[in-house]
Amino acid sequence: LNYHVPRTRRDILEILLKGLRRLEYRGYDSAGVGIDGGDSKDWETNAKTIKLIKQRGKVKALDEEIHKQQDLDLDVEIDVHLGIAHTRWATHGVPSPVNSHPQRSDKNNEFIVIHNGIITNYKDLKKFLESKGYEFESETDTETIAKLVKYMYDNRESDDINFATLVERVIQQLEGAFALVFKSVHYPGEAVGTRRGSPLLMGVRSDHKLSTDHIPVLYRSSGKEKKSCSSMPRTDQDTCLFPLDEKAVEYYFASDASAVIEHTNRVIFLEDDDVAAVMEGRLSIHRIKRRVGDYPARAIQTLQMELQQIMKGNYSSFMQKEIFEQPESVVNTMRGRINFDNNTVILGGLKDHIKEIQRCRRLILIACGTSYHAGVATRQVLEELTELPVMVELASDFLDRNTPVFRDDVCFFISQSGETADSLLALRYCKERGALTVGVTNTVGSSISRETDCGVHINAGPEIGVASTKAYTSQFVALIMFALLMCDDRISMQPRRREIIQGLRILPDLIKEVLSLDDEIQKLATELYQQKSVLIMGRGYHYATCLEGALKIKEITYMHSEGILAGELKHGPLALVDKLMPVIMIIMRDHTYTKCQNALQQVVARQGRPILICDKDDHETIKNSSRTIKVPHCVDCLQGVLSVIPLQLLSFHLAVLRGFDVDCPRNLAKSVTVE
Ligand code: G6P
Repeated sequence: LNYHVPRTRRDILEILLKGLRRLEYRGYDSAGVGIDGGDSKDWETNAKTIKLIKQRGKVKALDEEIHKQQDLDLDVEIDVHLGIAHTRWATHGVPSPVNSHPQRSDKNNEFIVIHNGIITNYKDLKKFLESKGYEFESETDTETIAKLVKYMYDNRESDDINFATLVERVIQQLEGAFALVFKSVHYPGEAVGTRRGSPLLMGVRSDHKLSTDHIPVLYRSSGKEKKSCSSMPRTDQDTCLFPLDEKAVEYYFASDASAVIEHTNRVIFLEDDDVAAVMEGRLSIHRIKRRVGDYPARAIQTLQMELQQIMKGNYSSFMQKEIFEQPESVVNTMRGRINFDNNTVILGGLKDHIKEIQRCRRLILIACGTSYHAGVATRQVLEELTELPVMVELASDFLDRNTPVFRDDVCFFISQSGETADSLLALRYCKERGALTVGVTNTVGSSISRETDCGVHINAGPEIGVASTKAYTSQFVALIMFALLMCDDRISMQPRRREIIQGLRILPDLIKEVLSLDDEIQKLATELYQQKSVLIMGRGYHYATCLEGALKIKEITYMHSEGILAGELKHGPLALVDKLMPVIMIIMRDHTYTKCQNALQQVVARQGRPILICDKDDHETIKNSSRTIKVPHCVDCLQGVLSVIPLQLLSFHLAVLRGFDVDCPRNLAKSVTVE
């Protein structure tokens, strides 16, 4: 949304499409854009029509479609312009142009809206709107929102009702999760965004110094807006609107900072039920009522993220780049937190709560997907160093079971994005029951990091590839640091603590060494890529590696793969083994070594010829096996960081050889903000 910054329509579309490309990892079965339609020199006239362009497929397909439009003057210069764009991951209705967003209120595009999330009561709303004569064209839940805002407008009590008020009325009717941005021909040059459950932020770009770093929230009571707090910064006498110099201001609504970072690093994270309105170059944030504990202003934060962090560089895909970034990303996780000289660990985000955590009755780690595996991977060392019972839970199942949670439980929510709906709902569930909640996320400002009582940012840097890699190893390291912190005053634990901390010190170099196996693993991939299935077996610290390796293979190669606990082999999975079935086994020199050797014998006896991931100094195992991937030795509880990397690389090469898009696997999204 630009104010008095002359831009051609081509520029505006380029900003929107670029933003979409950066967000494509969130979902990518179709995309669409809605922009001011007219070609007049007068922007207000332009904004009285809206042009919608939507296409099935990736953003590239939308880009091509835009350039096919005959009636669109791309070179017209416009000094106020608003466009909204969306990339969709279908929840209701097949991917198609009509189901893509923006969704519209009617054939004249009076109101258009883009939406992330799910409206759970959309059927009731649709029935109501149909009874009032509104005709639906798509199968989406989102279309009801577009129709509902028009209904509110058509039934307004006075002509001077503002756009934000309409949107406030709409969201009072909505159940479910949403981040929404609206545009309307009735409100030229204005945009309104709001959220509940799904993330939404605003980027603010101004060539001038901003006169404030807080936007006061305007609360509505008995139909009138009240200023939140007289001490809030305000320079606009009457309205308490955020005062920006109108001459060079652009606003961006986005569900993720990566979409706006090349334009500005100044962002405002909106809270649930905030309604943010931009009008005549000014931003105001409205709420119907104040939430308990809510700070009556939203801070303008300066993000440290660099554009280069979200670019691919010399790599063929983000996933490959992120795999190779791991020597640095784990360093970033530890940076400033571990003193390797005196073996101390400091986690600033936990320091006020650590005593309370030490007194708790159990730790519950709750997560989904790869983040869940990070919990499985570190459970044993957490149990060992905290001497507490540790449960590791898949968020969806945890909720399905109505799991008992008590005030003296400490619940960890591990999430790369910090937005995964199942994890977020589990967080709210635990909060309601009075447990202390701890976030372990990679996204500053994410819902999980804001709603937890305390937490650790893993600082792995933006992860774009849908298949998580560097976030996993950083979550792993962050959880180990927490375990070390929990026992820092336990004399009996000091030798073990020192051993682990010194292991962490050399971990980045050992990761580099594992990454140097890339060529060898690529060769292995050429032997395996036409197979249908791969079994991955291990136990103890490496069970999580098996689960995670199998998940990587499933996600991006579409091959069947299963992570099997070697202890369970004889209870079923062994029936799958024959001389044709590809098997990978992880055998490391820890307390499960002998048992792993037994499992190996059981597989070999069924004519299986497993590929072994083993310790490079384990000459015995290497001698007796035809195929080994040799990784350096590390402290037992950290070895899982090293054993997973060959499987990350393998899945990557298999996907490339099978001809699939590594970063954007079919049917999946990076940040799953729906239940
Ligand atoms: C999705 C992603 C996975 C990720 C999981 C949990 O399924 O495709 O890569 O592990 O969500 O995401 P989170 O952001 O909570 O770690």
